[in-house]
Amino acid sequence: MPVADTPQYQVIHPTAKIGRNVKIWHLVYIGAGTVVGDGTSIGTLVQIDREVRIGRDCRIQGNVYISSKSVIGDRVFIGPGTVFLNDMYPPSGGHWEPPVVEDNVIIGGGCVILPGVTIGEGAVIGAHSTVTRDVNGDSMVLGTPARPYISRNEYEARKKQYIKGLEEKKS
Ligand SMILES: CC(C)(COP(=O)(O)OP(=O)(O)OC[C@H]1O[C@@H](n2cnc3c(N)ncnc32)[C@H](O)[C@@H]1OP(=O)(O)O)[C@@H](O)C(=O)NCCC(=O)NCCS
Repeated sequence: MPVADTPQYQVIHPTAKIGRNVKIWHLVYIGAGTVVGDGTSIGTLVQIDREVRIGRDCRIQGNVYISSKSVIGDRVFIGPGTVFLNDMYPPSGGHWEPPVVEDNVIIGGGCVILPGVTIGEGAVIGAHSTVTRDVNGDSMVLGTPARPYISRNEYEARKKQYIKGLEEKKS
């Protein structure tokens, strides 16, 4: 029997500011002072701690963890199970350095984003990567630790080719 598609059991702090047309799925936690921009979607079991800034039209998939004061730009895609860390030598007693993700970034599933890194505009992070250093805009990095792989343009070209191949298989 189909279950009604109505998200349940969300805990959203009263001081969090949620924009228009934000889709929040089941079992999501959003902490005090966090801001979520218009049109963003937040998947099941996502935890977003306090004072995080998230831009508009982002896609945050299930089981993502975003630590306090992280900053995420507009149109950012975050794959399932990715975690953002803010305490480099835990427990440091609040000496935190949250990550910054600029606009139009794509982050694969299962990644770890270490404290203090900046992921530049338009960058792509391959699945299951550990991002230990800043990532240049419009570049793609992969692995643990994440190393330069290809450019964003090359990523888009491969993606196009990949989708074409899938469509050809179907027809
Ligand atoms: C990187 C990616 C786009 C594939 O790129 P690709 O260039 O087509 O990769 P290939 O399959 O040709 O692999 C090239 C090499 O990189 C390695 N590789 C591919 N993805 C990797 C990853 N995420 N981490 C480490 N190494 C990886 C492959 O093992 C291969 O190594 P080899 O040459 O020693 O055999 C894909 O693996 C990926 O990470 N996609 C993101 C998926 C995701 O997280 N989606 C989230 C929503 S569900």
